[in-house]
Amino acid sequence: MHMPAITGTGVFTPKETVTNDELVAAFNAHADLFNTENAEAIAAGEIEAKPHSSAEFIFSASGIEQRYVMEKSGVLDPARMYPHLRERSDEEVSIMAEIGLDACTTALEAAGRTGVEVDLVICAASNHERAYPAIAIEIQKELGAGGFAFDMNVACSSATFGIQAAADMIRSGSVRCAVVVSPEITSGHLEWRDRDCHFIFGDVATAVVLERAEDAQGAHFLVHSTRCATQFSNNIRNNNGFLRRTRDAMEDRRDMQFMQNGRKVFKEVLPLVSTHIAEHMTGEGWSSDELKRVWLHQANKAMNDFIGKKVLGRTPEAGEQPNILQDYANTSSAGSIIAFSQNSGDLAPGDKGVICSFGAGYSVGSVLVERA
Ligand code: COA
Repeated sequence: MHMPAITGTGVFTPKETVTNDELVAAFNAHADLFNTENAEAIAAGEIEAKPHSSAEFIFSASGIEQRYVMEKSGVLDPARMYPHLRERSDEEVSIMAEIGLDACTTALEAAGRTGVEVDLVICAASNHERAYPAIAIEIQKELGAGGFAFDMNVACSSATFGIQAAADMIRSGSVRCAVVVSPEITSGHLEWRDRDCHFIFGDVATAVVLERAEDAQGAHFLVHSTRCATQFSNNIRNNNGFLRRTRDAMEDRRDMQFMQNGRKVFKEVLPLVSTHIAEHMTGEGWSSDELKRVWLHQANKAMNDFIGKKVLGRTPEAGEQPNILQDYANTSSAGSIIAFSQNSGDLAPGDKGVICSFGAGYSVGSVLVERA
């Protein structure tokens, strides 16, 4: 058995940002347009008028201040409300592979590796832009990697589930150098026309390189243990899929985009995650006093404050439980990896931490790491 280690990380951040004020201005213009176009039906009580959104609500309910997106003009066009992304030919690199490759290149540089040394690529993300061939296999080809590659989807927990899969393979010896890449174009499946969720997501791509600790070229984090768990829930759901054309009345249905019952998610996921991390640490003989850092999924600041406090047994001090959601919003599976990538370089050998992501499914994945 070999000790797996995280030897490099990379983050691709899109160029365009959308502030809460910009988002709310576009949403409110869209709502006014909708209410004017449907004035008669609204007056007859057949449909409800769309209420305005508010930047104050968004910040106080979530902690989000802005988000990065691949293309903002479509998102902010009140008559459209989703991004313009050019269709690419089958001969071009696809957009998920392109941003994933950017993150992979940074992560491999950090690890002191090149693509040819990679023998496993897992593209772990909450949506894949096509059914097949796998985005991971396209990334494998572009990297010049060997071995094998596959896509996986565990929604917001995809990256930690991917890390567990890669770490287990490194531990057993079936692979030697793995990349877990999470290109998240959340702007494609967010319902920008629904004020309950239009502020939630942002786009990004992350990559994590995992190798045998003995192979590490520089500073790295030992992966002591991983733990994944799932429990079925309909509270976060997206019904889009390959059977779409077989169903009637599928033109512009709300459930073809991200849907959630945010209140229920908040209430049900908090105890699930806090208990999961506590039991994982106890199972490995780790105590909360030993933890130097907690890198959590980035959905909601209040959720993270709560989980951080439960895990550490006290209010986290500045920097102990870093949030990046104020800048990136919820980037689905990539959130905890951005937090880890941007807030782990200062840790000293022997320092311990936990990476944890959670979300639809429900699903939760935790990774206990130690700076070597
Ligand atoms: N602007 C103004 N008001 C809004 C609004 C907006 N954009 N969106 C909702 N509201 C209103 C609601 O209609 C509701 O009004 P009411 O009290 O008159 O019914 C009120 O604000 C509270 O809405 P609610 O949805 O209960 O807010 P919340 O405090 O639960 O915050 C979330 C919403 C989504 C931020 C929060 O529930 C959350 O983060 N949940 C967890 C989400 C999560 O982790 N998801 C995982 C996804 S991967």
